[in-house]
Amino acid sequence: MDRYQKFASSGLGRQLVRRLGLPNPYPLRRDAALATPALVGGADRLPFLKQLETGSAPYGALVFDASDIATVGDLRQLHDFFHPVITRLGPCGRVVVIGRSPDTVAQRALEGFVRSVGKELRRGGTANLVYVADGAEDGAESTLRFLLSGRSAYVSGQVVHVSGAAAPGTLEGKVALVTGASRGIGEAIAATLARDGAHVVCLDVPAAGEDLSKVANAVGGSALQLDITGDPAKLTSYLLERHGGVDVVVHNAGITRDKTLARMDASKWDAVLEVNLACQERVNAALLEGDVLRTGGRIVGVSSIAGIAGNVGQTNYATSKAGVIGMVKSLAPVLAERGATINAVAPGFIETKMTAAVPLLTREVGRRMNSLSQGGLPSDVAETVAWFAAPGSGGVNGNVVRVCGQMLLGA
Ligand SMILES: NC(=O)c1ccc[n+]([C@@H]2O[C@H](COP(=O)([O-])OP(=O)(O)OC[C@H]3O[C@@H](n4cnc5c(N)ncnc54)[C@H](O)[C@@H]3O)[C@@H](O)[C@H]2O)c1
Repeated sequence: MDRYQKFASSGLGRQLVRRLGLPNPYPLRRDAALATPALVGGADRLPFLKQLETGSAPYGALVFDASDIATVGDLRQLHDFFHPVITRLGPCGRVVVIGRSPDTVAQRALEGFVRSVGKELRRGGTANLVYVADGAEDGAESTLRFLLSGRSAYVSGQVVHVSGAAAPGTLEGKVALVTGASRGIGEAIAATLARDGAHVVCLDVPAAGEDLSKVANAVGGSALQLDITGDPAKLTSYLLERHGGVDVVVHNAGITRDKTLARMDASKWDAVLEVNLACQERVNAALLEGDVLRTGGRIVGVSSIAGIAGNVGQTNYATSKAGVIGMVKSLAPVLAERGATINAVAPGFIETKMTAAVPLLTREVGRRMNSLSQGGLPSDVAETVAWFAAPGSGGVNGNVVRVCGQMLLGA
């Protein structure tokens, strides 16, 4: 809990927050359990929805299968289902709407509905939309489990596309590479993938070697001191010699060199584009050319809200992070041919050393300018990465999911 959150949950704080209409950050539930009981309505298309525990209000989740909505008139079903029950959603409640494809008027309209519901929910509630393509119904379970659990605590107002089947099994016995793993978000990703069974190769620059060893030991993985901007052959030969390949690659290493464009010298531009984008392209090419990424592999990029909305002083960073989204879109069909996937997370304001260095006022604004009125935790990004990485998410390809508490910027 940050300081304001502590104040807002004290006796006096609660009164002031209510009277003055101040942001009211609710402590988020982050466990793996599904929100129950669920109220399920709409079409009867997804086998997984039948497994949900149902019951009476207060509801843990409101799930509406809007797959059969085909006309503007049909959209009224959203109002009919949600209007009577939306105030009966309990703390950290989940709203999930399921669609078929965004390529028709009525189906695309679902996005506006879900994003607005997300902004209206209080007490840590989230709302997300999942388009499940025809034939991909059995591939939706991992996504629904994620969105209906506490693991998606800081994911709201998002649209996920499930376009294929799930693969069987878990991360047990698989090898995952996490770059920039010595601290912050990378450390959390390493810990979460290890929790799910993967052997994690934790990579960071030699200067971060001490912290890197600590993380690698803590997660039972291995430490690889390597500057990712170097020749990718060093990395691919390490993965082939030690592990015979790799199953999950998370491009988390990233840097900022902020300055307004007029004051930014070319070295700041080059450094950021190199670490955040160019070397990922090179590594991906090497992984694919040498068949280092095994069949069913997963690549996960780390973009940023800045790459979607833009940010003052971050022309270099936002360019690189928008490029990460381009990388996902262009490689998704290539990876699909190998039964593999590529997706990206786009974090908003996450509480790390990077954001602790931001001046107080800017930091406070960043923290509160989202539907949940609080910053996210590195574990929120890590859980989203773990969902992409899971074999069960084999049908989730080419997605960019913001982990931003539905930040107002670029929404
Ligand atoms: N913290 C946030 O709010 C936030 C928001 C949006 C996106 N992100 C992104 O999330 C990722 C992690 O962010 P963080 O806050 O944990 O940052 P961080 O600075 O704490 O960690 C980044 C890590 O990457 C490593 N790294 C940098 N250059 C490298 C290189 N050439 N080779 C190998 N490793 C290298 C660093 O040593 C460091 O350990 C970054 O890509 C960042 O852009 C963070």
